Parts: sequence; structure tokens; C-alpha cells
Amino acid sequence: MSSHRVTLIPGDGIGPEVTQAAERVIEASGASIEWDRVEAGAEVVSKYGSPVPEPVLNSIRANGVALKGPVGTPIGGGFRSANVTLRQALDLYACVRPVKTVPGIPARFEGVDLVVVRENTEGLYSGLEHRVAPGIVESLKVVTEKACLRIARHAFELAVREGRGQVCAVHKANIMKMSDGLFLECTRRIAKEHPEVEYREIIIDNCAMQLVKSPEQFEVLVLENLYGDIMSDLCAGLVGGLGVVPGANLGDQCAVFEAVHGSAPDIAGKRVANPCAVILSGAMLLDHLGETEAGRAVERAVHAALADPANRTRDLGGTASLDEITDAIIDQLQ
Ligand code: NAI
Repeated sequence: MSSHRVTLIPGDGIGPEVTQAAERVIEASGASIEWDRVEAGAEVVSKYGSPVPEPVLNSIRANGVALKGPVGTPIGGGFRSANVTLRQALDLYACVRPVKTVPGIPARFEGVDLVVVRENTEGLYSGLEHRVAPGIVESLKVVTEKACLRIARHAFELAVREGRGQVCAVHKANIMKMSDGLFLECTRRIAKEHPEVEYREIIIDNCAMQLVKSPEQFEVLVLENLYGDIMSDLCAGLVGGLGVVPGANLGDQCAVFEAVHGSAPDIAGKRVANPCAVILSGAMLLDHLGETEAGRAVERAVHAALADPANRTRDLGGTASLDEITDAIIDQLQ
């Protein structure tokens, strides 16, 4: 079996614990991965002056693929988010988060199976904020035709590839007539190229209500950056929370796989964090590398392990430690 070289970013807080768990599980899957470990995040700012030092970007550019733990970002000031920096520097324009019911996990709904496709490089995350006058601040929402078209294309192509019958564009074009209006203009153009996929539009506030009432009506949601960020967490809550939802940041050259959750400083180092979201992100990574069987085996093993309440971590209402759930997943693979 040929070996793949993959960048590994342990990250901050619970990051090193959960990525190490993912490494162990991926090794047990039989896939041959050579990890290229690099440091990014809040901890390295004092050392390198940036949360994403150049060697991190170079490693991902060279390998084309990374598995990343969460990284902390200061609120209200301090350095720019490492995630935003990474996504913009590598042009990882599509943030893809599959949200699927995990058999046996206590959740409000059954049969949820949707994918959130979030634009990852612009919108209100352009980082363009300035003080107009004392007490007045402006934050610029940047929307380009190029970014809207490529995220819409990504959503429709994903729908076709995965046999999903519907793409729903989520917007607030009734208020932001120009910026969200351009987004809709672009999604409509791409929709016309895919008559086999049903195209739907929904205003974001209604979408939030519909999701918590009947999520099964959605298959693929395509959203601009901020809406996608917020809705990803809402969708994670539909199927058991942040501990079980994986994610990928995809560009034309590179792909960075990571969980939806953050660095959880409240539980860091206690070895009680749920590693399943990063492990499932690892399964997506294996699939991306063409190790489809190994990826499916990891997903099946996570679901099988979680089916036993004794293996569930605190966020899922159980008492298992990070190491206990990881061992249980590895047992399923052997
Ligand atoms: P968070 O996701 O870190 O934590 C929210 C809540 O969920 C906490 O109670 C935490 O203990 C719990 N939680 C999160 N992941 C968990 C897991 N795997 N197992 C069990 N419980 C888990 O969000 P928060 O507190 O808003 O952010 C903390 C830091 O993480 C911030 O600095 C933020 O900027 C950063 N962050 C980084 C992300 C990334 O690197 N992709 C994504 C989101 C936040």
C-alpha cells in the first residue's frame, strides 16, 4: 500500500489530545500515513509572531492535505484568527460539514442527513473593520461573483456526486439586497446548469426555524461565510452536538480536515473531550486520499463504538474518557 504524507496540526486546548486519538484510529484503519507535524495556533504566536507560521503553510502546500486540531482565537482584539488566515492563505474556499444522525446517540431528531457548504474566504470575515468616529465602527461584508459562483458550483457538484436531490441557498437578500442579492444571482446561475437537482432558496431566519422543526427537508445547504458558521453549529446540535460532526476546508490545491468544535479550554488536558469529530474528519481525509475503504471502516467503527452507552463521553451524556472511546473505536477496527 502506498504511503500518504499528511500535515498534522495538533492545535490548542483539547487539540493535541483529540488529534492524537485520530492518529491512533487512522493507524488502526490500515491506511499508511506519514504525518508531517507542524505547530499553529495561539501557543505559537509568541514564538513565531503569527498563529500560522510560514512552515505550516509550506507543509500543507507541499502535502496538499492536512488534519487540524482546533486553535484558539482571542475575542475583541489580539492576533487574527489562525483559521481565517489559513483558509484565506490557502484559498480553502469551501467549508463542507456533513451532518448525519449517529445511530443510538441521543438527539432531538432521527434521519438527519444533510451537508452544510459554507463559503470560507470572504463575507464579513474579510477582516476589514475600522473606526469611523468615536463610538462608530464599520465592518465590511465583501462579496464577489467569483467566490459565489465557485461555492455554488461546489454545492451542486457535491449534490450530484453524493446523489442528493436538493440544494438550498440560504440568504438574507430581502435586507442585504446587493451582497446577498449577488450570492443568489450566482447560485441561480449554477442551478440552471443542474436541472436534475432541485433548487430552493430560503431566508436565513426561516431556515433556522425550519431546521429545528424538520431538518429532514434539507439535503445540501449553501451559505455565505457568517451564516454558514452559525448554521454549522446549529446543525451539529441536531445530531448530538459538536463532538460528532466532522468538517473539511477544501480548495482547488489543498484540503484541511477539522472538527466543527473549538479548543474547549474548559476541558483541555482532562482527557474527557470527545475525539469523534476529529476522528470522523480523519475518515473524510482518508476518503479524500482515495482510501475509501479505510475511511468507511473508521466511520462504521465510530458509530459502532458510540452505539454502546458505556463508550460515550460527557458531552453525549456518558462518562467515558477520551482514551476509553478511542480504544473502543480501535477495537471495532480489529
Ligand atoms: P468550543 O467548541 O471550544 O466549546 C464550546 C463548548 O463545547 C464547551 O463547553 C466545550 O467544552 C464543548 N466542547 C467542544 N468540543 C468538545 C469536544 N470535542 N468534546 C467535548 N466537549 C466539547 O467553543 P468556544 O468555547 O466558543 O471556543 C473556544 C476557542 O476555540 C476560542 O478561542 C475559539 O476561537 C476557538 N474555536 C476554534 C475553532 C477551530 O479551530 N476550528 C472553531 C471554533 C472555535
